[in-house]
Amino acid sequence: MTYTQATSAENESTATAGNQPTQRFPVGFLWGCATASYQIEGAATEDGRGPSIWDTYSHAPGNTSNGDTGDVACDHYHRMPEDVAMMAQLGLHAYRFSIAWPRIVPTGSGQVNQTGLDFYSRLVDELLQRGIEPLATLYHWDLPQPLQDAGGWTNRATSERFAEYAAVVGAALGDRVPTFTTLNEPWCSAYLGYGSGSHAPGITDNAAALSAAHHLNLAHGLGVSALRSVLPASGRASLTLNLALVRPASDSPADRNAARHVEGLANRVFLDPVLRGEYPQDVLEDLRHITDWSFIRDGDCKLINVPIDVLGINYYSPARVAAATSELAADAVRGRADPSGAQHPVRYPGTDLAFTMPQAGPYTAMGWRIEPGSFSELLLRVHRDYPGLTLMITENGAAFDDVVAEDGAIHDENWIDYLRGHLGAVHDAIAAGADVRGYFLWSLLDNFEWSYGFSKRFGIVRVDYDTLQRRPKDSALFYSRVIAANGLGSVSAAQ
Ligand code: FCB
Repeated sequence: MTYTQATSAENESTATAGNQPTQRFPVGFLWGCATASYQIEGAATEDGRGPSIWDTYSHAPGNTSNGDTGDVACDHYHRMPEDVAMMAQLGLHAYRFSIAWPRIVPTGSGQVNQTGLDFYSRLVDELLQRGIEPLATLYHWDLPQPLQDAGGWTNRATSERFAEYAAVVGAALGDRVPTFTTLNEPWCSAYLGYGSGSHAPGITDNAAALSAAHHLNLAHGLGVSALRSVLPASGRASLTLNLALVRPASDSPADRNAARHVEGLANRVFLDPVLRGEYPQDVLEDLRHITDWSFIRDGDCKLINVPIDVLGINYYSPARVAAATSELAADAVRGRADPSGAQHPVRYPGTDLAFTMPQAGPYTAMGWRIEPGSFSELLLRVHRDYPGLTLMITENGAAFDDVVAEDGAIHDENWIDYLRGHLGAVHDAIAAGADVRGYFLWSLLDNFEWSYGFSKRFGIVRVDYDTLQRRPKDSALFYSRVIAANGLGSVSAAQ
């Protein structure tokens, strides 16, 4: 299975099945699920794996809900064949997984651990045997700890180490993996890892966050070039960004300016160097009081601006932002101590100029507003601003609090509604011209949701963390019927 651009005839938006309108997707549309190494694998100290920043961070008291860690997670490392069999049963065309850098290069540089490579090689073979296309992400946040000890993403050398690692993986798996993604959501690595400190390595320094963003961009560019040097000619390289659909909290010039600024920091700081070979001037100017940007060396944008074959987009919810004021800052402080669950402003990470503002519901269990229309809006903006790009939805999904019925079933209608709405939005964007080739739902399994630990369940398959048993929720059965029908509409939630 491989993804091809639909012809306009195939891309018809509506047909009829009985009395129900059917939203069919282009022929060849790739349907998959996504996961990430630290969130599902467990086996944290097995077979030569070195420590990552997420091991260190999750083991430090107070950083994760309930002190949860990824030591065992879903135990996917030991249950991989069983998990792949489940993917086949669901009818997935493709599976997006990430490779743990510390399994491949345990100390971040030098010695390669063949046992680590063997695990992913077995995973790829297992997938291919079942007709499932692998999509491998090289970095989904588990940086080898020794690299962090040398400065992590604030150190330019980390970008070079990443390129070496990319070449090792590309050479080992490139004969069977058609698409590699360099980084997952560098926004999170940079701004949450080094700005707000809510992700590993837990640093709170906006200047460091901006330097991390640049070195991640550089790692991407060097990584793509390294991949190209070892991949077959047909090999594809990509990057996954969690692009934001940013709206101002009010019509005031200050809030509109904050929205421009945040949109630049969230989207254009990554998109522009990668796709246009330059940083957005407005954002550079906005933040000169935080950094002089001297870590951007002459020629870096050229190294970053190497062609990619596909852009991965992760999307969950829109953002509403306001210009920073002392009142908002005070409210944000109150919010951190408010046990009521009410939403408060939150400092936007990586900058001191804006706050993320509460939005009206409905919400997922993360407190994220559910608004499918914002997804088509975002995709069409990308299509307008960066024409000609091939897009892939590499993550989209929701966490809800599961209710387990007496027979063990999980009737998660809210997940199904979320999926229906968001797939409808992708369909609308395709009908309006966006070149979206596939959709990877987040996530196959309930898993370790970073600082939320196991308290948030994003999976369409429930994981019982006592027994590690898997049980498909109703959403999994629904998704499986969507895949079989290549679309929505006449597909019902009930079996
Ligand atoms: C994304 C991450 C993924 C998961 C989802 C909910 O930002 O890439 O690992 O945490 O959010």
